[in-house]
Amino acid sequence: MKKIIIAIDGFSSCGKSTLAKAMAKELDYVYVDTGAMYRAVTLYFLRKNINIDDKEQIQSALSDINISFENLNGINTTFLNDENVEHEIRGMEVSEFVSPVATISAVRKELVKQQRLLGIGKGVVMDGRDIGTVVYPNAGLKLFITADTEIRAKRRLDELMAKGMKADFQSIKKNLKERDRIDSSREDSPLRQAPDAILIDNSELNEKKQLELALAYAHERIVYITKEENRPIS
Ligand code: DC
Repeated sequence: MKKIIIAIDGFSSCGKSTLAKAMAKELDYVYVDTGAMYRAVTLYFLRKNINIDDKEQIQSALSDINISFENLNGINTTFLNDENVEHEIRGMEVSEFVSPVATISAVRKELVKQQRLLGIGKGVVMDGRDIGTVVYPNAGLKLFITADTEIRAKRRLDELMAKGMKADFQSIKKNLKERDRIDSSREDSPLRQAPDAILIDNSELNEKKQLELALAYAHERIVYITKEENRPIS
């Protein structure tokens, strides 16, 4: 069967990464968390006190950043210049600063370039905000995920508490809304549902049902694309 690119976009904390990871596991595809890449850049900028209005500082910082992923005991783990930053990039400090950093065109240009390289010749499930619109406009399957804000904030709170991180419901909800606003209204690659993306509202769907639904779409597309590629030229 042909290996395809699966693009999963949507609002913050809609469970995109949970779905993307589960799909990648089922299909034996590579999973790429592009939000983690923006978070790693943000962490670097915070640590180095980079002025995000200074183009030269940004460009020079970007050339010093190397982001990689490794599977550690079954957990997709983000490395920033060979340091495991998986825990730190999920904290509130990075969450509050990441959307403004993701509006910077130089940052987007560099990360989109890396994201395209990660997908060459492979079956990939990639989640983010601009995967189906900018990074892979020709993806074999595009999903756009949404859910009710209250439900999303509650899920995020549970997730952070399970990791032993400090969080409260109201500030999480405020942060989600603010990130959605900035992500959807930025000039460069705003968060949009691609015209050919399938919309999934998972407010009332559990993880298992959502995975079944998404895998059914994926299998349909894989079969279709494989048939198209193997069709004799007449
Ligand atoms: O998916 P996430 O919440 O970890 O993403 C963190 C931020 O990164 C999000 O607020 C917007 C930005 N982002 C983006 O602009 N483009 C992507 N492809 C992925 C994330």
